Amino acid sequence: MQARIFSAEPRLVGSLRPPPDKSISHRALLLALLAQGVSRLDHLSTALDVAATASMIEGYGASLRVDGSATLVESSGRTGLIEPDRILDLGNSGTGARLGIGVATLVPGLSFFTGDASLRQRPMGRVIDPLRQLGATISARNGDSYLPAMVCGGGLVSGTVHLSVASAQVKSALLFAALGVDGPVTVVEPVLSRPHTEELFELTGIDLVEDFAEDGEVHGVTIVGPAQPSPFSLRIPGDPSAAAFFVVAAACTPGADLDVEEMYLGPTRTGFLEVLEHMGAHLTREHGRLRVQGSSLEGVEVGGSIIPSLIDEIPILCVAAAFASGLTTIHDAGELRIKETDRIETTAELLTSFGVTVEKLTDGLVVHGGLQPGSLGAGQRRVGAKLDHRIAMAAAILGMLAGGTTEIDGVETVATSYPGFFRDLEALSSTTIELG
Ligand code: S3P
Repeated sequence: MQARIFSAEPRLVGSLRPPPDKSISHRALLLALLAQGVSRLDHLSTALDVAATASMIEGYGASLRVDGSATLVESSGRTGLIEPDRILDLGNSGTGARLGIGVATLVPGLSFFTGDASLRQRPMGRVIDPLRQLGATISARNGDSYLPAMVCGGGLVSGTVHLSVASAQVKSALLFAALGVDGPVTVVEPVLSRPHTEELFELTGIDLVEDFAEDGEVHGVTIVGPAQPSPFSLRIPGDPSAAAFFVVAAACTPGADLDVEEMYLGPTRTGFLEVLEHMGAHLTREHGRLRVQGSSLEGVEVGGSIIPSLIDEIPILCVAAAFASGLTTIHDAGELRIKETDRIETTAELLTSFGVTVEKLTDGLVVHGGLQPGSLGAGQRRVGAKLDHRIAMAAAILGMLAGGTTEIDGVETVATSYPGFFRDLEALSSTTIELG
């Protein structure tokens, strides 16, 4: 599917209710699978990634029923899971696949995993190797590195695993696997990554002990298994990674005024707000709402321990950098190379097609700012989404801000995380959008 976006002069005003958080939705489904009884998930994400996880938990024996805005999940719990009679296809979802591999270690028998062309290129060794350190039996393509993969459940023992990258997906896979271990499992990560698994473990009555080093950076979490979550009710908050597209759009648009409601505002997800503030954006947080007003931005340097808290927002932050004055440098972000696409390459290619100068680093990018909102009103360009939802949405916002006509091929990929994206863009901005 192609989106044809026309923008004469950027304008953005209104109120945004971002879609339900994708990371929390995946984990809520998995915990509902492991709890014995009925759990109630209000405002579960309707993104395709989350639908793939929902289908996976059905494969393990859970049943799902929609009741108004709630999804009711009924399961016989951690000790009653069944061996799936089909291959579990996680589509485009790295989170679904990696967390699923962790959960599969709890299930007697075999679980087979695959995904789409993008997911089959993404590294799975990062989750397979540490699970094997605890005794898991897992085989995967190309030297146990890529999907398809096969997990043979059971056989894990207690121990401590040190992760070399701060990855919430890997940490979470280990924490789920720890629920079936007889004794303690400790996971140590170099910097705190998003703690949604820990938050939901606490909500469902699973005890965990967390340790932070004095510098606040190294984070350890210990679970003593076997442990069984209790059924729960949860309202899923709005997704900051989805809201980020409109927050940046408003921050760069002169005269813009955007209210963002019901967004998750935990510190491990809002690094992009800190960076935008540092760039000079006008942001106000009041009673759980965020107000963004357009202003002029300046280039900044971004690197170090803030990176895990904004890794998914780097493509759209680079769009903000294009409209800032001066240079923006992003480093320590080598993880970008193993997302849905190599986002150092795809972000640079996108900005370049709008005439922005970008230098690619091994672990980041340097964006030369100075683009004026609306200044490309007479221009036309065609870009590709490349099976990457965040590149597709960054392209649409860049097109809206720069002006003129932007054709984006492959926009069906936005449904991976934000099915209502184009509807919200049309409602909030002055853009005309043709989908076809
Ligand atoms: C996620 C963790 C991050 C993030 C991804 C979602 C999660 O990946 O980029 O979009 O829900 O755990 P890593 O764990 O690879 O850092």
